[in-house]
Amino acid sequence: MTIDPDLLSLFPSTTTISADGSLAVSGVPLSALADEFGTPVQVVDETALRTRAREFADGLARRRPGSSVAFASKSFPCTAVYRVMAEEGLHIDVAGAGELITAVKAGVRPDRLVLHGNAKTDAELALAVETGVGTIVVDNWDDITRLESLSGAQQPVLLRVIPGVDAPTMAAIATGHHGSKFGLPLEEARRAISHMQGSTRFDVRGIHLHIGSQILTVDAFAEAVDAVAELGEFDVYDVGGGLGVRYQRSDDAPSVDEYLDAIADAASSHLPDRAELWIEPGRSLVAQAAVTLYRVTTVKHGDPTFVAVDGGIADNLEASTYVGTDMDATLAARPGGDDRVELVGRQCESGDLFASDLPLAAPRIGDVVAMPMTGAYSYTLLSNYNGALRPPIVFVRDGATRLVVRRETYDELNARDVLQPSAEHV
Ligand SMILES: Cc1ncc(COP(=O)(O)O)c(C=O)c1O
Repeated sequence: MTIDPDLLSLFPSTTTISADGSLAVSGVPLSALADEFGTPVQVVDETALRTRAREFADGLARRRPGSSVAFASKSFPCTAVYRVMAEEGLHIDVAGAGELITAVKAGVRPDRLVLHGNAKTDAELALAVETGVGTIVVDNWDDITRLESLSGAQQPVLLRVIPGVDAPTMAAIATGHHGSKFGLPLEEARRAISHMQGSTRFDVRGIHLHIGSQILTVDAFAEAVDAVAELGEFDVYDVGGGLGVRYQRSDDAPSVDEYLDAIADAASSHLPDRAELWIEPGRSLVAQAAVTLYRVTTVKHGDPTFVAVDGGIADNLEASTYVGTDMDATLAARPGGDDRVELVGRQCESGDLFASDLPLAAPRIGDVVAMPMTGAYSYTLLSNYNGALRPPIVFVRDGATRLVVRRETYDELNARDVLQPSAEHV
């Protein structure tokens, strides 16, 4: 069987295909993973995850020694992923107490955490200070007031600013434009910086910005660096994350090198020589490392023919919400062939569609379907829609498998419900 190399290029880097067309990740056949762990299951190529983390860290260190990469953990907030990223020497960006606590549970040193949030509470800031979070990104005047009311050692902070850059991405995930809810406009940022510099509570290390996510060209990143340079000279400039990835074979995304060249060149042109450049990739670090496996549960012949699998938007909301429903990056047990089908999920929405007009050879109940590029934001956005159980996560590495998150159970589904004393049927 022949498989379009463009399609295979969306799978994790260790993916191989055997003569009979079956796929293996890191030497483990995907069909064996579906048999052992059931479906849906999210399979993570640990080698791919580590390789990508090194690509960012080494690439940035080469271009700007002394700089830092922080993993934007919102993109895959699972303890095993935190652990891998920390072992690879990355700092960890957390947004809120939940991610902070998860990171610490995973074994991340608190001084390597960067805390974000446009609506941090008293309790979250108190927890961050008590825990010894290395850097707090101040988003607004309320953060400043709250931090001033807490005792403790001087807190290293960055100030999040709005660079006023329209990132070429979907409006819902653009964050650096004028009027954004994140950070302060440049004029106000100046006042906030001078206020914090006048207080013994803060160690103002520098500036933070993040212009949005799934950005497929590099110019806006450079533009944002240029925009904030006028705020003065600081030790640190954290330019956030946002590098986009390919979800479909027709997509084109900048390489890590192209992205790093763009921001490092902009930093050389506009920022002080000694300043550290920090970045916070999420999606581009984890998206390609994971494949989600489903099984076909129903084949409804007609015009069109619907092939339904045992998952859907409950485990892959990112696909239908932001990256488009036309996921031609889907590979079934028997790809190719003359049948054109609508590959759909099992949740009760017509938008629960994985791929339209997908060529599949004689799809049958029980076929395994492998969906690549599911590492970013799918675990984050999991839901129990229609009573779906949240799927397990399995790491694969050098032919070995490791269950890192088990499947949710039906008992857990309503474990938080406060049941009526009499549970008789009514
Ligand atoms: C402050 C901050 N940094 C980094 C990221 C990661 O962005 P991405 O996953 O697009 O790299 C986000 C995502 O929303 C963010 O809000």
